[in-house]
Amino acid sequence: MDSNGDGIGDLRGILSKLDYLEWLGVDLLWLCPVFPSPNVDNGYDVSNYCDIGPEFGTLADFDLLLAELHRRGMRLMIDLVINHTSDRHPWFIESRSTRSSPRRNWYIWRDGRDGAPPNNWESIFLGPAWTRDDATGQYYLHLFSAHQPDLNWDNPEVRAALCSVACWWLARGVDGFRLDAITHLKKQPGLPDLPDPDGTGCVPSYEAHMNIPGVLDFVHEFARESFRRHDAIALGEANGVSSAQALEWVGTGRGPLDMILQFEHWTMWSSHPHDPLHVPTLRRILGKWQQALQGKGWNALYIENTELPRVISRWGDVGTPRNQSATALATMYFLMQGTPLIYQGQELGMANTTFHDLSVFNDVFSRNRIEQMRAAGQMDDEILAELALTSRDNARTPMPWSDAPQGGFTTGEPWLPLNPEYPAVNVASQQQDPGSVLAYYRKLIRLRRQEAPLIDGRYVEICKRNRRIYAYVREAADGSAIAVICNLSPHPASYRHREWILCHPDLLLSNLSVAPHDDTHSLRLRPFEARVYRVRRRTASD
Ligand code: NOJ
Ligand code: CA
Repeated sequence: MDSNGDGIGDLRGILSKLDYLEWLGVDLLWLCPVFPSPNVDNGYDVSNYCDIGPEFGTLADFDLLLAELHRRGMRLMIDLVINHTSDRHPWFIESRSTRSSPRRNWYIWRDGRDGAPPNNWESIFLGPAWTRDDATGQYYLHLFSAHQPDLNWDNPEVRAALCSVACWWLARGVDGFRLDAITHLKKQPGLPDLPDPDGTGCVPSYEAHMNIPGVLDFVHEFARESFRRHDAIALGEANGVSSAQALEWVGTGRGPLDMILQFEHWTMWSSHPHDPLHVPTLRRILGKWQQALQGKGWNALYIENTELPRVISRWGDVGTPRNQSATALATMYFLMQGTPLIYQGQELGMANTTFHDLSVFNDVFSRNRIEQMRAAGQMDDEILAELALTSRDNARTPMPWSDAPQGGFTTGEPWLPLNPEYPAVNVASQQQDPGSVLAYYRKLIRLRRQEAPLIDGRYVEICKRNRRIYAYVREAADGSAIAVICNLSPHPASYRHREWILCHPDLLLSNLSVAPHDDTHSLRLRPFEARVYRVRRRTASD
C-alpha cells in the first residue's frame, strides 16, 4: 500500500492496513527487504543494512509499524540478505577501490584467465557469475546479478559484521528473520571449474555453491551469536537441502534454524511449466517433508512467493471454477504440520497478470532472460510467451485493495502495473462476500487455531494411489483426528477409505456447498472440491 502517492508501497501504507491483516487472522508479518537499495533486484541488493530505504519510509516509521504490530499481538519478521550486498554498499565500494584495500577480502576477487573469468560458473540470474572490475583488473564473484557481489563468508570479519547487523535489528525489537539464499554462503573450496561437456563456456553452477559442506558451520555460528540469544524466529531460504538433510537445519535442539523454505515442489513446477499438476508427485514431495520432520522439526508451508507465478495459473483453473481451485489448493497445504505462509494476493486467488510487451518487465531475471533469448535469435513473441508463464513479475503486481483506480493501491502511477483483473479481484469486494477466496482463507486460519490435531497432529497419508485427490489425516496423540480431502483436478473424483470413518455432522469446512449425506466411507468430489471432516479410526464394532 502506497501512503504518499509516489506509486511505491511503503511502511506507512502497510501500517494503514494492519486492521486488514488482523481481521484476516495473520499473526506474523514477513516484510521483504526495505533497506536502502538501488533496487536492481527489488531490495535484495542492500546498500545499507541498518536503515530504511527512503522510498519505503524512515526508521521512525519502522519503529511505529513494529510497535503497532506488537500492540495487536502480531510479530514482524524481516528479510536479511547476507549472502551478497549491493555493488553500491560502502563495503564493496571500498573493497573494489584497490587490491590492498582492508576490505578487499570481504568479497571474492580473483584474476581472470587469459581475458576470461576465473572459472566457468554461470550466475543464477544468467550470464557469467564473474564481472571484471576495471579499477584493479580482477573479477568479483556474484551468484546473482552483477550488482549483487557475494560476500566472503570465509572471512571472520565479514561474519562478525553481519552478526552485528542482525543484533542491531534484534535490539530494535524485530521478532526474527527470513534468511535469504542462506544455503549459498559457502562456495566449493578452490572455486573449481565445472564439467562443460557441450563446451558452452559457462555452466549452471549450483553444485559448486549450494549446500556445500561447511555452510552449516556458518549458520550455526550466526545463530549462536545473534537470534538464538533472543526469542526470535529464523526461517531460512534453503534451496538444495533435501528432506533427508533437513533435521541438520531445523531439527529440534539440533538445527540452527526454526524452519526452512524447501524447493522441491517449486522445482517440480519450474522444470515442467506447461504440465498440469501431477498430484502423486506433489503428494510424494510434501509427504516426504511431513514425515521427515514429524516430531523432530517443523515445516514452513507455502504455495506462492515473490518468485513464483500465481498458483492458480499453474496448478489451478483460472476459468469458471477459479474460486474452487484457489481454495482447494489452499486447503491442501494449509492444514499440514508446519507454519503456513500466505503471499500477498494469494488470499484473493489472484491469477498471473497480463504483459503486453517486453518493455513492461521489471524483474532483473526476466530482463536478463530477454537479452539471452534475443541473443539466441528468438523472436519477441516467443520470449513474451515464456515470460508470461514464468516471470517473477506475475506475483509482484501491487495489492488490489478495492475497485478504485489503481486498485486503491496508489493515487499516483504504480511502480508496476496492477493486474488488470483488479476491478473484480480485490480486497474490498471479497471482504463483503462470504463465498470469496478471502473469506475462505479466514475460515482456514480460524479452523487451524481451533483444532488441536491441526497443530500438533501426526500427518497420515491416505489414498496414496489417487491421481486426482490429495488427502491426509492429522491425528492427535489423544486419537482425535481430522481428514483433509482435496480434489486438485478439473475433473470429478472419487474418494474412498475404509479405515477412517467420516463423522458426518462434523464436516468442518468445505469450499463448495455440500448436501447432507450418510456415506461414511466414500465421497464423490466435484472439480477442485475440498472438504475437511472430523474422522475416527474404524473399530471392531463398525
Ligand atoms: C531469493 C529471493 O527470494 C529472490 O527474490 C532474490 O532475487 C534472490 N534470493 C537474491 O537475493
Ligand atoms: Ca510510497
